[in-house]
Amino acid sequence: MLYKSILYFVQKGAKSRQLHHMPKAPLPGEPTKPYTLTEIPGPRSEALFNEFSKIQQVDIQYFGDYQRSIGNYLADIDGNVFLDMFMQVSTLTLGYNHRSILGALSCGGNQRIIANRPALGLFPGLEWPCKIQNTLLQPCVAPKGLPCVFTAMCAACSTEHAIQMAFIKYAERRRCGKDFTDEEKESALFNKPPGCPKLSILSFEGGFHGRTFGALALSHYRYITKVDLPSLPWPIAPYPHYLYPLNQYEKENKQEDVRCLEQVEELIEQYEKTMPVAGIIVEAIQCEAGDRHASPDFFLQLQEICKKRSIPLILDEIQTGGGATGRIWAHEYFELNIPPDIVTFSYKMQASGFYHSPEYMPKQPSRVFNVWMGDPVKILMLEAVLKTIEAEDLLTHVCYVGNYLLRQLNTLQHEFSDLISSVRGRGFIIAFDMPCKDTRSKLMYLLRTKGVQVSGNGTKTIRLRPCLIFGEYHADIFLEILRDCLQELPEN
Ligand SMILES: Cc1ncc(COP(=O)(O)O)c(C=O)c1O
Repeated sequence: MLYKSILYFVQKGAKSRQLHHMPKAPLPGEPTKPYTLTEIPGPRSEALFNEFSKIQQVDIQYFGDYQRSIGNYLADIDGNVFLDMFMQVSTLTLGYNHRSILGALSCGGNQRIIANRPALGLFPGLEWPCKIQNTLLQPCVAPKGLPCVFTAMCAACSTEHAIQMAFIKYAERRRCGKDFTDEEKESALFNKPPGCPKLSILSFEGGFHGRTFGALALSHYRYITKVDLPSLPWPIAPYPHYLYPLNQYEKENKQEDVRCLEQVEELIEQYEKTMPVAGIIVEAIQCEAGDRHASPDFFLQLQEICKKRSIPLILDEIQTGGGATGRIWAHEYFELNIPPDIVTFSYKMQASGFYHSPEYMPKQPSRVFNVWMGDPVKILMLEAVLKTIEAEDLLTHVCYVGNYLLRQLNTLQHEFSDLISSVRGRGFIIAFDMPCKDTRSKLMYLLRTKGVQVSGNGTKTIRLRPCLIFGEYHADIFLEILRDCLQELPEN
């Protein structure tokens, strides 16, 4: 495969000059280019949408044809074929219909695992502990220093259960190891203290951690997901808002870190009497807010604050984990002195849940629990994904192609400096800003008309989230179309 040959050169320490001359081609089964035959959405998508919206309130862009989608290309039911750089909200790791995943799901033994979805917290199969060891807990997969893992149903459930563990640990410590009192047991059933204590989790402005009630209280991105729903009055700290290019604004950005960290400390103090902070949750990269990166130093100091207060640092790697940044975990780039206490995952990992240090394991069973507690099918998929990542050295590949894409976008930024700014990224978590929301919408419309699927986040950002088998060949197709679109934009 193309990326295998790329990686051969990378592994052999080939110089970038040699990499430049590598063969470029589509992956097996892929078209050579994206193409569109209709307006987007096309007439069949429109008609189906009109029917479907009678039974479900949805925000469908178009209906996919998952029989015909392949590799980096998403086909729709109107015959259009898009170069997909959003990959189902960054959740598809190996693109569409990857042979390793299809193989895992059609393998005879696995069919019975799929057919008999067990209540994993009560009746897991014989193979379950071994499957977890060989996937989530592989030494090259589990975040260093976090040997325990809780499997969950979905991304938001990961957040939900992770914060439950943080609260339980906090209350356990306060109780000094004693058993629950009768008053605690009774009052808990009526949502009242002392059984349900007034505790909080500190989150950050612009953060996003999911749409279940606890997770939503920690999410501060789109009002539409929150308005009219009761929430929890937990503390929300400012998140660093850097100026770009980073090397020109080092001093200002450092000051920004200090400002935000001071606020974190102040908020913890402020809430201590009424609703003590039992943990801090933060994304490794704030994704929905517009790919906002904070410095490794910011995370290091945040961790210091947590340690000082004996509360957990919960790192949300739901969108950033699973190889998207060219490492399995984005926080590997921070080079923290000690592991974070809890790391949530989902999306590119296929399976959802969180890792945690042994000290967070609740003393009694059933405290953090639900019937399915995850899905064995997702572990089968993860197994196939991890084997492919290793066999094809996809993390090196993501770093190489990600850097290539960033360099080319920086060049475009010089050329179209009135349109593109703040090009930023790690691996395949890449973004750039447009002058305003309106110009962004126009660019996204043009890109889609020419067969490229990207996504907007934040107020004026375009985010790119290709899958791990996106190559330099695909990057060149995207860049050529992007350049055409930028030239066509009315402002230009
Ligand atoms: C960082 C992060 N955490 C959690 C979630 C889970 O959100 P949802 O409830 O939509 O699955 C998301 C979804 O985009 C996310 O980006």
